[in-house]
Order: sequence, then C-alpha cells, then structure tokens
Amino acid sequence: MPINDQICRFSMDICREAGKFLLTSFRSKDMEISYKSRTDMVTNMDYMSEKFLFNSIREQYPGHDIIAEEGSKKDTGSEYIWYVDPLDGTNNYAHGIPFFCVSIGVYSRSIKSVVAAAVYDPCHDEMFSAVKNCGAFCNDEPVKTSDTQEMGVALLATGFPYNKDDMTRNNLNEFNRFLPRVQCIRRIGSAALDLCCIASGRMDGYWEPMLKPWDSAAGSLIVSEAGGKVTKYNGETYDPEYPEILATNGFLHSNMVSILTDF
Ligand code: IPD
Ligand code: CA
Ligand code: CA
Repeated sequence: MPINDQICRFSMDICREAGKFLLTSFRSKDMEISYKSRTDMVTNMDYMSEKFLFNSIREQYPGHDIIAEEGSKKDTGSEYIWYVDPLDGTNNYAHGIPFFCVSIGVYSRSIKSVVAAAVYDPCHDEMFSAVKNCGAFCNDEPVKTSDTQEMGVALLATGFPYNKDDMTRNNLNEFNRFLPRVQCIRRIGSAALDLCCIASGRMDGYWEPMLKPWDSAAGSLIVSEAGGKVTKYNGETYDPEYPEILATNGFLHSNMVSILTDF
C-alpha cells in the first residue's frame, strides 16, 4: 500500500479509537474542566486523547514529526509532520453539545502539502478521510462539495477566535459583511467539522481568521479532495501555519475573496 494510504488508514484507526474514548466521559461527571485563559477551556480528556495519539504515532512512525494542540511536540525537521487535534470542539464537548471530533492532518515538507487526513466525529460515527490526489470520503463513501453558485442562497460557516475581545481581529466585521448577502451562517464550534461540512456539500463556504495547523490541516485536504477550494483570505495558496482560511465549493470562492479583502 502506498505510504500516504498507510498513513491515512493508521490515522483513521487512532482517530476512531480516541473519539470512542472521548465519548466515555461525554456528559459525565468524570470530565474535568480547566481554563487556559478566561475563554479558552480544556478538559482532562483533551490531554488523555492527545497522550494516546502522540504515543501511537511515535511508536508506528518513529521518524516522523508530531505537533499536537496541548503541547506534545516532536520537531526534528523530518519529511512528515503530523498535526494532531485530540479534541476539536472542546467548548461543545464540555457543554454536552454533540459536535466535536478528533483531527489528524499529515503534511509533507518536500511537496509543501497535506497528504493524508482523518477527522472522526464520534457522536455521529462519521469518519472523514482523504489522501492527496485520491478523493475524499465519509465512512468510505466518496464525498463532493456543493453545486451552489449564488451567494444569496449559500449556507456559510465561520468561527470566532478565543481572543475575541480584540475588536480588530474578532471576525465581527467579516461576519457583518457576509450576513446580509447569504442564506445564513453557522458557528458549529469545530473548525475540522466545519471543513468536513464543506467537503460533503452540507454547507457552501467557510472562513475563519485565527486557526492553528491542527485545526485546519486535515479538513483542508478533505475539502480540496472533495472538489472544493482552500486558500488564504486573499486567494493565495493555503498554508497550515497561516492563521486565516477560506474554504468553499469553488463556485463561491472569488466572491468570498472579494468580500474578505475589500476592507
Ligand atoms: C477551536 C474550534 C473552533 C474554532 C477555534 C478553535 P478547539 O478548537 O475549532 O471552532 O473557532 O478557533 O480553536 O479549541 O475546540 O480544539
Ligand atoms: Ca481545534
Ligand atoms: Ca483541541
């Protein structure tokens, strides 16, 4: 099996295992919440999920780098970097809202692209996956972005950064611009699931200003392999280390670029 397929299969296996583990404390008194800042919460399950994922990847692919949200890091300059979000949608999880996932995107330094991705939503038992140039899937069935061509009927998604008190960067200006122009806007609370909604054609466009690579790497590949387009706000090539992301079905892309850049 080609290396990227192997990596994808392995990512799916460990995302599924971590996701099922997250369910064991969901809506239970076993979950412990703490705060990284007033608005940025984390649970004991974020840390435990990360520990499991980090150790599993390190054991299976000892030469690969790993960067995970809660601080586990191995960065030696290797060909592959595993971007790991052990629980994307922590706020939802901590409030008992069933929209969260485990997300892994694997980036190749030589081709400067994400090459394998898995996003597992345990509440809905949906496994999204993609390998570069091989299409995108949900539970092993191909997925495809929507056909919506008019902004007026588009359903968009976005998210707001934790440092939302900074009015210049909290996304309200962009939100206000889109709202009157579209059918409606969702704030699901998990960037990886937002991207999977674009990939599967459930929604038409998504933008967010302050993401980290573990939020967007996996979902970005799943969208582009589903036929969509993923860039920075100005239309330049997506870079997982760059905080802004715009992901669409392709048809709405230039329109959304104009709205996001015309300030
Ligand atoms: C957050 C979610 C949210 C997005 C935030 C992320 P976390 O990740 O993806 O939708 O708006 O920017 O930080 O903290 O739940 O892993
Ligand atoms: Ca996240
Ligand atoms: Ca997280």
